[in-house]
Amino acid sequence: MPQTRVTIDAETMLVALLGWPVKHSASPRFHNAALEALGINATYMAFAVPPERFTDAFRGLQALGAVGANFTVPHKEAACSLCDELSPAAQVIEAVNTVKFEKGQAVGYNTDAYGIAAALAEEGLKFRGNNVVILGAGGAARGIITQAFLDGAARLTVANRTVPRAEQLVAHLLEKCRQLKPAERKHPLPTCMVVPYDDIKAALRDADVLINATSVGLKKDDPPLFNPALISPATFVYDTIYNPAQTQLLIEAKQHGCRRTANGLTMLLHQGARAFEIWFGRKAPLQLMRNELFDPSAWSRKKA
Ligand code: ATR
Repeated sequence: MPQTRVTIDAETMLVALLGWPVKHSASPRFHNAALEALGINATYMAFAVPPERFTDAFRGLQALGAVGANFTVPHKEAACSLCDELSPAAQVIEAVNTVKFEKGQAVGYNTDAYGIAAALAEEGLKFRGNNVVILGAGGAARGIITQAFLDGAARLTVANRTVPRAEQLVAHLLEKCRQLKPAERKHPLPTCMVVPYDDIKAALRDADVLINATSVGLKKDDPPLFNPALISPATFVYDTIYNPAQTQLLIEAKQHGCRRTANGLTMLLHQGARAFEIWFGRKAPLQLMRNELFDPSAWSRKKA
């Protein structure tokens, strides 16, 4: 953690994080560290904004000339509806976690979705041409399924406890992808399947990537969604959960011979790095942001 701090003066630029609540967020810590390291005269501030004040807060930031903003729960859908232009991923997901204010326009992005692609790239992997299994059909799964579509996965299986919810989500996202302009849709859409956990065996047999996008695993004693012995040792297993750092899924996958596993911290890191690059047009100091995020002592130092 650099010891210097940006001195706030009459030219200091603002980037805001709007959430409700927001005090748990790690984003101010790693964005401010990055701004300091690059000597950018800007500050990243978190604001707890209730849903009924969100439009005022969004427009207020724009009026103040803020560089941009991040949005977290529950504001991502409202932010999407206030943007003038949307990235392809944001159009499909219908949720925006990053906005850049420029030339009177609000341009919306979903860098959460990009984060999963970058997390795979860290393992030398991509969705393109691969067999992907995604667990879950909630908000987290929405972005990941979309990125798998946009990046050209070969086959996509979504497993969910409530099968109709997953069927509806997949059909909706496929339709939204088809509505993109041809230039925004670079790859053919994958073959898609939706299964209950009891029928996941066949999909797991030749899965290149398995991603948990459910909340199962947040509690250490959460029972597994399916028999982890079904996971092939060649599969890369990713859990979007990062606290606990080792979920039961990751522990059991390793016990059954999977050599490649990772938790959701890399998604968090890369969504932030991409947002930084959108706002400032400069390469984000990834290693420094990673150290901030991965070093638990930095968290306690800050809280002290
Ligand atoms: P998020 O926005 O974090 O994705 P969500 O919309 O509440 O949160 O979705 C949570 C996901 O975890 C869903 O896929 C949910 O399955 P259902 O669609 O069947 O509800 C899944 N989930 C949560 N608790 C679960 C449990 N005990 N067993 C199986 N799946 C569970």
